[in-house]
Amino acid sequence: MNQINRRNWLRLTGLAGSAAIVAPLKSNTISQYVGDINSPVNGSARLSSNENPFGPSQRVRDAIIKGFEEGCRYPFGKVRELMDVLAKKEGVEPNQIIVTGGSTEGLKATGLTYGVHGGEIISPDPTYLSLLSYAEQFGAYINRVPLNEKLEHDLDEMEKRVGNQTRLVFVCNPNNPTGTIIPKDKITDFCRSLSRRTLVFSDEAYGDFIVDKEYPSMIDLVKEGANVIVSRTFSKVYGLAGLRVGYLIARPDIAGRIRPNVMANTNMLAIYAALEALNDQDFYRFSLDKNEEGKAYIYNVLDELGLEYVKSHTNFIFFHTGRPIQDLISQMNGKGVNIGRPFPPLSDWCRISTGKMDDLHRFGEALKQVMA
Ligand SMILES: Cc1ncc(COP(=O)(O)O)c(C=O)c1O
Repeated sequence: MNQINRRNWLRLTGLAGSAAIVAPLKSNTISQYVGDINSPVNGSARLSSNENPFGPSQRVRDAIIKGFEEGCRYPFGKVRELMDVLAKKEGVEPNQIIVTGGSTEGLKATGLTYGVHGGEIISPDPTYLSLLSYAEQFGAYINRVPLNEKLEHDLDEMEKRVGNQTRLVFVCNPNNPTGTIIPKDKITDFCRSLSRRTLVFSDEAYGDFIVDKEYPSMIDLVKEGANVIVSRTFSKVYGLAGLRVGYLIARPDIAGRIRPNVMANTNMLAIYAALEALNDQDFYRFSLDKNEEGKAYIYNVLDELGLEYVKSHTNFIFFHTGRPIQDLISQMNGKGVNIGRPFPPLSDWCRISTGKMDDLHRFGEALKQVMA
């Protein structure tokens, strides 16, 4: 039950008939929900923010405690150490790495750097908003390209819209909120060819969850010297969302342009955590296994309820409820389960994160009651 029905899709997106107008995402509409749903942990099953509740691993907790010894020191030297380790891991030079406060800071710094004097950014819609909303604050125009009927990036349309005004093309791969990936045989050619005309940003926050080991990262293009930036994070598979550490990988001249716009950078404890997390392969594999187990459970619940969903390459699943998401959020909150915020124009779809099995069972039971 993972194919999107074309008629439903057209109806949902408002593309039926000749009215090809999709309501743009408005960051202020969204923040009104984020406040509620991301409230501090309150005993609810928090399945709203694509976190990894198994982290930090024990080894990382021990490393953080050790890091306190250097809590009185500025982290410059330690950031350099993390840059060196990341450069080695990714096969680039240290001056091609920018360590940031979560990848959000890298997304925003890029949005500021390339959005500040106006100009156009092409993006899929819906997608992850950090870079886009921030660039918009500084005058950029976001040219939003609706996802296709499989809820994947519409590559042809995105390419068609690149013009003289385009400063950047944003791809989110895998995409949030849909969990889709750009087909393996298309992604590299698409990014390479567009990078000859403009800058391409590939948000790979969920890259670790892609099961196909042959699936390429756009870091390969950075290594070729292409006009491409990639973001990665320690928030997801490594389970460090609360510590705020992520990074950008780009050509030295591009990294040099963005670096002055990074403000928070990161902190000593987060660097200790990240360095240890990279070594803790057991936890990394454990997290991936738990994620697969969680996804299998959620798929089962959705199958039982006969709800359509998109096959996910991430730690969340996007499914079609057929009822307004605001209503579902309230009903599920009432049963102690936090689900994802609305993603207009897909306003009767729901994004649910994987998590601990107890929490997923609470989700399953609550959803069955609510949908009954
Ligand atoms: C696609 C995507 N990119 C980036 C981020 C930002 O994560 P962080 O700032 O924690 O690295 C998220 C967070 O959910 C995301 O979904």
